[in-house]
Amino acid sequence: SSIILINSSIFALTNTEIKQGLSESYEKFKNLNTGKNADYIPDLAKVNSSLFGIAIATNEGKIESIGNVDTPFSIQSISKPLIYGLALKDNGEIINEKVGLDATGHKFNSIESIENNPTHIQNPMVNAGAIQVTSFIKGKTSSEKWERALSFINKLSDGKLYLGESVYKSETSTNLRNQAITRLLNSYNMLNSEPMDALDRYTKACSIMLTTKQLAIIGATLANNGTNPLTRQNIIEANYVHYMLSEMAVNGLYETSGQWWVHVGIPSKSGVGGGILAVVPNKMAIVVFSPPLDPSGNSVRGQEVIKYLSKKWNLHYL
Ligand code: DON
Repeated sequence: SSIILINSSIFALTNTEIKQGLSESYEKFKNLNTGKNADYIPDLAKVNSSLFGIAIATNEGKIESIGNVDTPFSIQSISKPLIYGLALKDNGEIINEKVGLDATGHKFNSIESIENNPTHIQNPMVNAGAIQVTSFIKGKTSSEKWERALSFINKLSDGKLYLGESVYKSETSTNLRNQAITRLLNSYNMLNSEPMDALDRYTKACSIMLTTKQLAIIGATLANNGTNPLTRQNIIEANYVHYMLSEMAVNGLYETSGQWWVHVGIPSKSGVGGGILAVVPNKMAIVVFSPPLDPSGNSVRGQEVIKYLSKKWNLHYL
């Protein structure tokens, strides 16, 4: 009889191999000094650019890490797939008729992307689509909607995430472009709550503070089909996790998502705070935090580390 081993290496990763991969990739890229912090949000420009952490959490809840993995940073756009998950829970798949499953092919804060598409439908992984999705979160009052969003994201992790008041204020006082996006969406009737209320909740979600390790737990919950491996609680239905990860694959790194899929092949989401979350379904999450970004808004070291580990451990989906 013949046994066919497919991607056998990823089924057999030991703790030692994980630790080895972490220290190898950390050493390899710690002196890579290209890119720069996001500066259109003043608070992000002030973050120490040399912070660098990598964490891996398995779908069984084992965590290994290296570097500055306990330093809180703002989640930024990595909140997008999570808020999308809550909107799916709250509204069902109908949300996909209002938002959209296809990549925009545009930058994350594109206005022409809304304008050029005759339906104006945006992807939930870019600002416009995420503001739309955020307008669909259920709750009697605006504060109830926000509390539900924060509590949902907390349940995907260790329950200790919080709103970063400083980054929230900084972003609120400088987000003219997002205000334009929100007004434009409203002019096309694409929102389901008062426009500036949706934008405020979106900005709060982007300002959630968490560490590399805490983000890895979120990833492990998604890798574990929606059941938090630490609390054993099912937080979101596997069918909705399927949508979240699919959209991360389609548009998680914005206009460079195609290149990312070819070279890495792991559903991932970046944020301008310097985080990248990569989820290998049924296996693990890899999270990197390093603030300097490339011109598309993706962490430079983060991309290199995940690309390196994907090749080393044969994690490409195909
Ligand atoms: O709305 C913004 O511009 C930020 N709060 C989030 C953007 C972001 O993270 C894009 N990421 N790579």
